[in-house]
Amino acid sequence: MPSQEIYRHLHRFPDDFVWGVATSAFQIEGAATEDGKGPSIWDTFCRQPGAIADGSNGDVACEHVKRWEQDLDLIADLGVDAYRFSMSWPRVRPGGSGVWNEKGMDFYERLVDGLLARGIKPYLTLNHWDLPEELQQQGGWANRDTTHRFVEYAQGVSRRLGDRLASITTHNEPWVIAVLGHETGIFAPGIKHRATAMQATHHLLLSHGMALQAMRAEGHATRLGIVLNLSPMHAATDTAEDLEKTRLEDGRLLRWYMDPLFTGSYPEDVLAHLGADAPQVSPGDMATIATPMDFLGVNYYSRSVISAAGPWDVHSSGREITDMGWEVYPEGLTELLVRMHQDYSVPPMYVTENGGAFKDQLQDGRVHDTQRRDYIARHIAAVADAMQQGVHMEGYMVWSLLDNFEWASGYEKRFGIVHVDYETQARTLKDSALWYRDFLRHQKALRQTPRPGPIGKASSQHNAVAVVSTGA
Ligand code: FCB
Repeated sequence: MPSQEIYRHLHRFPDDFVWGVATSAFQIEGAATEDGKGPSIWDTFCRQPGAIADGSNGDVACEHVKRWEQDLDLIADLGVDAYRFSMSWPRVRPGGSGVWNEKGMDFYERLVDGLLARGIKPYLTLNHWDLPEELQQQGGWANRDTTHRFVEYAQGVSRRLGDRLASITTHNEPWVIAVLGHETGIFAPGIKHRATAMQATHHLLLSHGMALQAMRAEGHATRLGIVLNLSPMHAATDTAEDLEKTRLEDGRLLRWYMDPLFTGSYPEDVLAHLGADAPQVSPGDMATIATPMDFLGVNYYSRSVISAAGPWDVHSSGREITDMGWEVYPEGLTELLVRMHQDYSVPPMYVTENGGAFKDQLQDGRVHDTQRRDYIARHIAAVADAMQQGVHMEGYMVWSLLDNFEWASGYEKRFGIVHVDYETQARTLKDSALWYRDFLRHQKALRQTPRPGPIGKASSQHNAVAVVSTGA
């Protein structure tokens, strides 16, 4: 189907809605030991035999540190409003404490200025998982001291770049760091101990609140928030066992983060379930965690279906499955956003990540990634549906700009709307990127035209109506 038709029915989003693309430092930068960068826990983890599916690491990745200007031109060419990226903590402060690395900070300064020169808003994440290895040697996120190191880092970055950043996110997906990094151990630092994971999660949340307060004191206009990975949880059947397990999983993934951030307490049912593995909380911690923020980022990929009997067979729903083995379930995004809006007093939300891994083929300079294109179009429509139901959304960002190092899957899984040839580092816009560019041009053209009917600013949220025909 010609790309035109995919957005034919996709109505107008608010004029100030922020469209973006996202990446993270470890996944694209490379230059792992250059210009004074220290090792991160992911550098260490990649060297453990069997940790990464293809035995790869982040040493070279997309050579973004070398090719950043070309990459910024690419981003500008897409016509997005914003670029969400992360800073490598050990690139700017190699040991996580002590001396700062000017060369590392200079890199991000050039990047931020380069974005601004191209009219793109910089959305920076402080912690997208690559903790300095030296801090891990002292216990990492399980050690309460790390919260203070994180505050110093946040403050240093805010002092240096706060006047130019549109937004600063403290942590990306604390659930992943805590559970995949410290409980199942399939991600760095590779620990398998539930009590450690829960202590880490508490310190991540605590350091988020502490950092918000410290950065606010710097007085910049930068908007501050956190990014969570969330999914609606559906029970496989209506049996009491499935329903009970579903409630617990929802507690561990969503309420464990949303309750403390927005109501100042951990959910009772999850605390009871954790028993002796529940984290140690000091007086005042919960109030700090609940420090008000300016926005909430939601990363959405799929729903979760929970069965008490064991892992649910993702093929049983008959839906399309991505190369990660994740079900394509766009209406889950609407359901999730509406629920967040109903259950919590949330600040304006962004979808800070959304996208799909598919088996791409580069042929004659083209990648016909129809599945990814449709995935993105359908999820944008799902965001519009949520907005129509009154949810305050401020932006949407595609994961990811580039094919990159997909953590434990290495380079085998491709999420980019831009193809990367890892031999030559050549970048090629896939059809999904061409579609997104067209879609954004269309949205921007609409911005130039008067709104039909009496739709003022106040009701503009409700003007984003979408019915997307994807031709799937
Ligand atoms: C998210 C991560 C991001 C990327 C996507 C596929 O959990 O934040 O770095 O790996 O998944």
